[in-house]
Order: sequence, then structure tokens, then C-alpha cells
Amino acid sequence: MEETSLLRLLFLISLLSCPTNQASLTVSPSSSQMFEGQSVSLSCEEDDSSAGWTLRRNTSRETRTQCGVAWGKTAGSLCKISYVAPWYSGVYWCESREGATSNSITITVTGGPVILQSPVLPVMEGEDLTLTCKTKMSSNLPAGFYKDDSFIRTEPAGHMTIHHVSRSDEGLYKCLISSVGESPPSWVSVTGEEVTFDFRSSFIQIFT
Ligand SMILES: *[C@@H]1O[C@H](CO)[C@@H](O)[C@H](O)[C@H]1NC(C)=O
Repeated sequence: MEETSLLRLLFLISLLSCPTNQASLTVSPSSSQMFEGQSVSLSCEEDDSSAGWTLRRNTSRETRTQCGVAWGKTAGSLCKISYVAPWYSGVYWCESREGATSNSITITVTGGPVILQSPVLPVMEGEDLTLTCKTKMSSNLPAGFYKDDSFIRTEPAGHMTIHHVSRSDEGLYKCLISSVGESPPSWVSVTGEEVTFDFRSSFIQIFT
């Protein structure tokens, strides 16, 4: 084996054995919009619980306030909110004692009669995106969907699916149910295809 190949192999091994210290934030129900009064739980899924992850948020009223201290209740790795109010709208994330952060999730709470259910996490390019327009009582009323304030189309059952999304589908979506009302807008982001580490081809590169 050449010396450079050996060095590359050692580098690869050091990368693979490097401890990861990451967390990802999930929310249940999985929706970026909620009605006032709903209960919600947020969870920091972490690799290393000794890192002291806390759940924090920024709202228009508060900065970096912590679950269990300023709002919500902690229950193990969950943060539970029994009643969301419109001023709970904001950005939520997990943060370790050392300051490492997870993905962040934007939550919009409305006191209005309509929400748009959109994915909380970015949608991968090529995947399908489904948006649901709902009232507290029903999720299959005819609804009009809008992107960046332009009308897209009316869906008779309140669900709109965009197949094989691309970057151009990224934007600010909202919906309207006539004679009921309009949802707040929510940003839907589309990310590039997932980068996967191909062991086989990296070994081939190392040994050729
Ligand atoms: C929260 O607010 C602080 C202060 O404005 C800002 O520095 C930080 O980037 C915000 N965090 C997120 C995740 O938006």
C-alpha cells in the first residue's frame, strides 16, 4: 500500500470513529401551524444525553428561553405544552451545554379558524410535498392554495400534493377555505438530495 493511501485510510477511520454530538428536534403533531389551545410536544432526539441538551425558543417576546423554565413542562427528553397560544409562534431548537444546536423548527400558532399543515422539516428534492388546509373540525373541505401570494389551485378535498418537488417549489404557502377563512403563511423549504457516504467508492478511491 502506498503511503498516501495509508494516510487516507487512517483519515477515513478517524472520521468514522469521531463521536458525533448531535440532536434533532421533532414536534408532535408534526405540523408547522397549530390552532390556539392545542397541546404539543417537542422532543430533542440526541446521541449523547450527557451533553445537557435543552429546548429553547425565540418568539417575538422572548429570546433563547428554555422549556421547563420559562414555558412548557419537561418530561424526560420531551417538552410538553398543554395549551399553545399565538405568542408561542417562533423558532424552536435544542442546544447543548457547549452551545451545539439542532435543526430549528418554526411554529406558527393562530387564533384564527384555518391552518395549513405543511412539513416541519425541509422536503428533499424529488420527494412529494403534501399540504393540508384544515379547520378545527374538518380537514377535507374545498380549499384554495397560494404560493408567494399567487393562487395555485383549488383542491376539492383540502389536500394539495406537489409531486417531485424542486427548489423552485420552495416558498411561502397559505390556504383559504371560503366562508371560513385564511391560514397564516408558512415557509416550505426544499433541500438538495441527501448526501450519503458511499463506503465502497471511497475504498475504491483509496486503493486505486
Ligand atoms: C434567537 O435569537 C437570537 C437573538 O436575536 C439570535 O442570535 C439567534 O440566532 C436566534 N436563534 C434562532 C435559532 O433563530
